[in-house]
Amino acid sequence: MMSSNSLPARVKLIEVGPRDGLQNEQQTIPAAVKIELVDRLTAAGFPNIEAASFVSPKWVPQMATSTEVMAAIVRKPGVVYSALVPNMKGFEAAAAVGVDEVVIFGAASEAFSQKNINCSIVESIERFRDVAVAAKAAGMRLRGSVSCAFGCPYQGAVAPEAVADVVRRLRELGCDEIDIADTIGVATPALVQRVMPAAIAEYPITQLSGHFHDTYGQALANIYASLELGISIYHASVAGLGGCPYAKGATGNVATEDVLYLLQGLGIETGVDLDAVVDAGQFISGFLGRPAVSRAGNALAAKRRG
Ligand code: HMG
Ligand code: MG
Repeated sequence: MMSSNSLPARVKLIEVGPRDGLQNEQQTIPAAVKIELVDRLTAAGFPNIEAASFVSPKWVPQMATSTEVMAAIVRKPGVVYSALVPNMKGFEAAAAVGVDEVVIFGAASEAFSQKNINCSIVESIERFRDVAVAAKAAGMRLRGSVSCAFGCPYQGAVAPEAVADVVRRLRELGCDEIDIADTIGVATPALVQRVMPAAIAEYPITQLSGHFHDTYGQALANIYASLELGISIYHASVAGLGGCPYAKGATGNVATEDVLYLLQGLGIETGVDLDAVVDAGQFISGFLGRPAVSRAGNALAAKRRG
């Protein structure tokens, strides 16, 4: 449904801080801190939280506690807890702890695919096939992520046709939702207006999401441009946590607090309590020993202090 100014009236906001955010932290974060973060985000009202990643601990050591985290979080009925799964080894670990949604992650850039998952785009789709079949057989949701859809740290420009091609392949694998990701945060609204329609032409718009990193400060503008195109699912990280271990210099996802402030101002419903997200952002930033990377989060926290 679209509101009177023709933006979506409701947005599904997926909190990815516990995975995309924390995966890039250098200091080891105890499972107890991750669990408290997820529990706070659950209480804040997110319909979907990306809580874990069952990848090789040699590649991403921070996510090695994923089984412990998934087993201990307090699940709210109806909330979807997602995890990244690159292969059957990861699938078995995810299924064992009752992950609701498996996320397979491909790239629109050949160079990034090699660096991130050590195989070509076409090989990655073939590897995901077993995971996709297993996820469906287990009654789990299946989400596909398209990294570097707006630019690549290794090869530079990425053609919208390359994005469309991966979307088509992920659709054929049976994905229930597909993420168009600006892994390194280089997109601008003009590029969003070229890339998103290429994805929309291949896949139902109601199941497409925007995953924007904020490296160049364009993420909110890119979300607004995507809203104008009718995209109604977005990813964000509380306190703007994150980066990508295989994309040097890339900063975190757009901060959830900032996205919520934008959406509230537009009268777009999310069902998420901004105050509770600000608290969660201050909690994790306090643990990490640095201010949150969220303008709205820090402004609201300062206002409370008076
Ligand atoms: P590989 O080295 O080619 O695979 O890695 P392998 O099958 O040869 O396995 C190597 C070792 O890893 C073996 O251990 C396996 O058992 C182990 P060893 O025998 O040497 O002791 N292993 C595993 N262990 C635990 N769980 C597993 C698993 N798989 C293998 N699932 C692989 C290939 C895909 C596994 C590796 O490249 C990998 O784990 N990559 C993950 C990279 C990653 O997590 N990147 C960050 C997430 S993507 C992202 O952030 C982008 C996103 O946010 C969207 C965006 O912004 O664009 C989603
Ligand atoms: Mg990301």
